[in-house]
Amino acid sequence: MRPNGAIVIDPTGADIHEEAERIRVLGPIARIELPGGVRAWSVTGYEAARQVLADTRFSKDPRKHWTAFSDGTLDPAFPLIGWAMMENLTTSHGEDHARLRRLVTGAFTTRRVERLRPEIERTVDRLLDALESESGDAPVDLRSGFAEPLALNVICELLGVPQDVRAVLFSGGEANVDTTNTSQETASVIERVHGIAGELIESRREQPGNDLVSDLIRARDEDGSRLSEAELMGTILLLVSTGTEPVKNLLTNTISELLGSPGSLAAALEGRTPWGDTVEETLRVQAPVAHLPFRFAVEDVEVAGTVVPRGEPVLIHYAAVGRDPAIHHRDPDVFDPDRADKRHLSFGHGVYRCVGMPLARLEAEVALSSLFRRFPELRLAVPASRLERQSTFIMNGLSSLPVRLGKKVTE
Ligand code: HEM
Repeated sequence: MRPNGAIVIDPTGADIHEEAERIRVLGPIARIELPGGVRAWSVTGYEAARQVLADTRFSKDPRKHWTAFSDGTLDPAFPLIGWAMMENLTTSHGEDHARLRRLVTGAFTTRRVERLRPEIERTVDRLLDALESESGDAPVDLRSGFAEPLALNVICELLGVPQDVRAVLFSGGEANVDTTNTSQETASVIERVHGIAGELIESRREQPGNDLVSDLIRARDEDGSRLSEAELMGTILLLVSTGTEPVKNLLTNTISELLGSPGSLAAALEGRTPWGDTVEETLRVQAPVAHLPFRFAVEDVEVAGTVVPRGEPVLIHYAAVGRDPAIHHRDPDVFDPDRADKRHLSFGHGVYRCVGMPLARLEAEVALSSLFRRFPELRLAVPASRLERQSTFIMNGLSSLPVRLGKKVTE
């Protein structure tokens, strides 16, 4: 902690839950220091987070509402500068945000998403077949071999992103969430990604398809006031990364929690605990998006008795919010899918609430039920204490999830 009381955030994200508890001790909203020495606020309390997320006096537009960004005092080498530079829904406010959000929400309604179920099932089966055929009982990585390709394929099918550029486009989102990267490292990946995304936009412009990228291009070209060229690019890249990174974490976090809790796994497999409850409990106790930048106070705003001065940045600590002892009185840190109250804000709340929530829930239900039904003997290939974390405090994920599949059950 700094003499001024701010908790210094660990860029490696080695133990985000321990760090969250140190912030929580200071109150539901507290001072933190980000890599690069940038001062900000972190909201760890459930009620405080609900207030901030629903309060229009908090904006997500750094250009208009982050004083240090707009007056040029923010160091361009600030490692998280990419989170302020991008142009998409997540860096817009008010009518601009509503305009951008309207362009994508239609593709992610529960009804539209349910139509993707057969495609998700086919992808899950194909990935499990591949893992099984290559593994015998040797260790396989469920992050790189299952969770990540599933999430990436599903969102890219919907967008119409060709197979050969999917991984490159996703690497932009990955570089952005790696909080050990320097701003130059992130910028060079993003530059490459922009080049590839630009080519994709041009090719879809020439040959439109029945996909979301083509719909967005049509919206842009028919009426430029609905979407600028930079926003078009930003929105496509946002959807590739938000459609992949947190879903991958939700899957790997649920699998590792279940493998550490045989009773909960048996209850899920026997149908005593619905898969949906297991997924909600992971969202609460292992929020896939952990500590998310940025919101900015449009004016001085009081939150839980503390005044956030105008123009200062605020992060929501979703991983802390789900474990808030003020609402989860009994063992808030324990994974228990049968607990009655699984309240969390892990998909956000208010006008910026996650667009992809129905899709994420559907993917998780299909993936987890298929995986564990087919491989009921699945087990970790290393001790749980040796599972390595992704180098980020923004996301809550594993860098790999090595398991042995065990004997297959054929249905
Ligand atoms: C488990 C999976 C997911 C989690 C935990 C998650 C979490 C979140 C959170 C916390 C927010 C709110 C950000 C804020 O308030 O600042 C958000 C927004 C968003 N999410 Fe997700 N997300 C997930 C999956 C997805 C998927 C599959 C998509 C599909 C493309 C998606 C697209 C978006 C978009 C576009 C926004 C921005 C909404 C806006 O600014 O209006 N997310 N997500």
